[in-house]
Amino acid sequence: MAGAGVQEILIAHEITGTRKCDRLARLQRTANVVTATDSLDHAKQLSAAGVREGETIPVVVEIDVGMGRCGIAPGDPTVKLASWVLNAPGLRLAGLMGWEGHTIKYDAGEKEKQIRDAMTLLVETAEQCRVEGLPIGIVSAAGSGTFLQSCLIPGLTEVQAGGGVFSDLSYQKWGLAEHEFALTIVARVVSRPNPTKIIVDAGFKALSFQHGYPKALGLENVGSIVLSAEHGTLELDEPADEPRVGDVVEFVPGYTDSTLCLHDEMCVLREGRVEAVWVIPGRSGRR
Ligand SMILES: Cc1ncc(COP(=O)(O)O)c(C=O)c1O
Repeated sequence: MAGAGVQEILIAHEITGTRKCDRLARLQRTANVVTATDSLDHAKQLSAAGVREGETIPVVVEIDVGMGRCGIAPGDPTVKLASWVLNAPGLRLAGLMGWEGHTIKYDAGEKEKQIRDAMTLLVETAEQCRVEGLPIGIVSAAGSGTFLQSCLIPGLTEVQAGGGVFSDLSYQKWGLAEHEFALTIVARVVSRPNPTKIIVDAGFKALSFQHGYPKALGLENVGSIVLSAEHGTLELDEPADEPRVGDVVEFVPGYTDSTLCLHDEMCVLREGRVEAVWVIPGRSGRR
């Protein structure tokens, strides 16, 4: 992103390991790249990298707002860590972040309550830090499945929504029901063993089934989909002649996050015409 000219970046993650921390420090020469920390141990490593590279790394302290993944406890522990960051060489205290990912699974009313509880922990801790004299600029949280509710909480300054940009079956379920599907995987029918069975040349290596199976556009009577490595097997509820061997079937992924990373490039269409081919540089395990 920095290489492509994006100047303000939040890596909503802890960057660890000497080489990666040093690279992050050097990246500050290209863009303002903010990163997260949730422990003194880690903050010391970031600070050392900033000093080694002669750069200042902007840091948000990550709070666990209920997800139980990364993040320090809200309240006093956060204030203590943020104070350390403020005074550490090679670091700049940029603010706080949280991620209320545990709330996406709830139905509307309960989800709103859970989001409010989570955001209150974040916003109140930001206030506590300010009372202690700590400059808290960024208060960041929320993702594609929560931002519509989280945004309504005063005190949040930015959101971390990303994956929902393409929409898919999962993001629609998590709250973006009005967004159109923007990304499909094109497969071809390779076999029709009988009138209710369609075999396509896309299995889990092309489609993935994390968070749910893909949906075949234009085929309304698909009873089940099974994905093996290179094949997709669709069972129709009613016999049908179409699609025929060689025909194209377009799939909306169950979850674009786990589908996109399986591909090197994506074709960008406007009004049915390919306008560009975008490389997906962050897709692989290379770090
Ligand atoms: C730290 C953090 N923030 C926000 C999100 C939300 O991202 P998305 O909008 O892609 O669901 C995630 C997703 O896993 C995350 O790990």
